Amino acid sequence: MTLSRHDYLRAMGIDTWQLKNTSAAIPDDWDGLRREVAACTACPLHHGRSQTVFGTGNPHARLMVIGEAPGAHEDRQGEPFVGAAGQLLDAMLAAIQLSRRDVFITHLLKCHPPENHAPLPAEIAQCTPFLARQIAHVKPDLLLAVGRIAAHHLLNTQMPLDTLREKTHHYGETRIPVRVTYHPAELLRNPADKVHAFMDLQQVWRLL
Ligand code: URA
Repeated sequence: MTLSRHDYLRAMGIDTWQLKNTSAAIPDDWDGLRREVAACTACPLHHGRSQTVFGTGNPHARLMVIGEAPGAHEDRQGEPFVGAAGQLLDAMLAAIQLSRRDVFITHLLKCHPPENHAPLPAEIAQCTPFLARQIAHVKPDLLLAVGRIAAHHLLNTQMPLDTLREKTHHYGETRIPVRVTYHPAELLRNPADKVHAFMDLQQVWRLL
C-alpha cells in the first residue's frame, strides 16, 4: 500500500488540510470547458449532432453575442453562424467596425436541434450551465442577445422582443449589461427590420 504525505503526517499526529474538489470556485480553463462541451451527452441532442458548436472568436472579448442554437451548417462546420444568417450577423458587426475575431459568438445550445426545433426548456436547462461558464470566463462588458429565445433565457423573462429592445438590461448576479436585437434569420425573413437592428447595433457601439 502506498501512503501519501497526508497519511504520514496524520500517523505522526499532525493535522493537515486537504483541498476539496473546488472546481466550481476555480476559474474555468477554456480548453477544459471546450473538451467538456465536446464530450457532453447530457441531453438527447447529442445523438443527432455531427459535433458540438462551442463558439468562436476572442475568449476575452468585450462583446459576447448569443444566439439560439446551431443550425445544420453550423453542425457540419462546428462554427456558429456560418450560413446566410451568419453572413448577415457579420454585416451587422461590420456596421460597428467589429469582426467575428473581435467578439465571442456562441449559442444557448451547443448541439444542433434536429429540424431546427426551437430549443426545449429541458435542453436549455441542461446546456446553459456551459454558457454561464463561458460568460464567467470571457467577462464581457456587454452581452448581445440575438433573438427572442436567447433574450428570454439571459433575462429570465417572457416579454416580447420588441419590448426588450432599445433598453439595457442586466444578466444574473454579475449584472453584465445586456442588449437585445433581432435574430439575423428573422431579419432575412423581414428585411424591413434591418434598419431597427442597425440602430440596436449603434447602441451597442455607444455602450462599448
Ligand atoms: N441560428 C442560430 O441561432 N445560430 C446559427 O448559428 C444559425 C442559425
